[in-house]
Amino acid sequence: MASQVPNLVSRAWAKGLFDGTVVFCTGGNGTICSAQVRALVYLGANACIVGRNVEKTKNMAAEIAKVRPGSQVLGIGNVDVRNIATLEAAVEECIGRLKTIDFVIAGAAGNFLAPIEGLSSNAFKSVVDIDLLGSYNTVKSTMPHLLSSAARAKNTGQPTGGRIIFISATFHYTGMPYQAHVASAKAGVDALSATVALEYGPRGVTSNVISPGGIEGTEGLQRLSSQALRESGQASRSVPLGRYGTLQEVADATVFLFSDTGSYVTGHVLVVDGGAWRLAGLA
Ligand code: HXC
Repeated sequence: MASQVPNLVSRAWAKGLFDGTVVFCTGGNGTICSAQVRALVYLGANACIVGRNVEKTKNMAAEIAKVRPGSQVLGIGNVDVRNIATLEAAVEECIGRLKTIDFVIAGAAGNFLAPIEGLSSNAFKSVVDIDLLGSYNTVKSTMPHLLSSAARAKNTGQPTGGRIIFISATFHYTGMPYQAHVASAKAGVDALSATVALEYGPRGVTSNVISPGGIEGTEGLQRLSSQALRESGQASRSVPLGRYGTLQEVADATVFLFSDTGSYVTGHVLVVDGGAWRLAGLA
């Protein structure tokens, strides 16, 4: 029987596109990353999402699995991306149960609004550690499997494999009040992705960034638009396409980068924000 759970993916993509592949995702409890994983699972992938909270992570995995009966979606808790040992244990469990990691989404992030005057050194460090060090730890712990997947894809004609996407933001392109910690961390994430693309490209691994703007239904939009943007009256005027984005639009960008359609794209930052960051400097 067909699933009633929204699959959050465009009709442009064929079911079965990711059959036989596995995606490993940090931050999988978040709205954006769970939508990305849901789309990949709908299109045939199995998945492993990791998070700090055990129950939340298991529940989210069960929810994602509903999108395709027969799919395997693991939810592994007690994983803090700041602690590489917890990530390595999760990667080992993923490999033990699902056999491979073909795609990685490095999406774990922390965020709160705070002016620099209200941001302690430890608060700044906490977010940089989650967003940037956490992304680095994700690369370190999954790369051996991405390299195997890339080699397998090359040798066997498997659809695709050996791809990583980092979730960034657009704050660091222009600067953003109350986001010194996040903007600084995400600038590092973009630089990390570019370096991964250069170092691992010769072995077939692609590395790209998706930078979402304001996406409907996310905690990020709720927090940022309700305070910094909405209060200044700029929210509705700040997007050239005249609206916020949808989770499906982020999922579609993910499918593009992980499928054969994205095979020659690496070291790229794909901004999914309706053009908003290009206007930010004019506001
Ligand atoms: C100022 C704050 C603060 C706030 C925490 N701190 N919240 N400072 N304003 N609102 C300070 C604390 O006082 C402490 O500093 C330091 O940050 C660490 O806080 P802890 O709670 O001890 O750390 P931890 O438990 O590790 O929590 C990390 C966190 C938390 C980042 C602070 O918010 C978190 O876990 N967030 C994860 C979930 C999340 O934020 N998701 C949203 C992602 S949305 P002191 O000096 O007191 O020790 C996103 C996209 C947005 O990123 C894009 C929108 C378009």
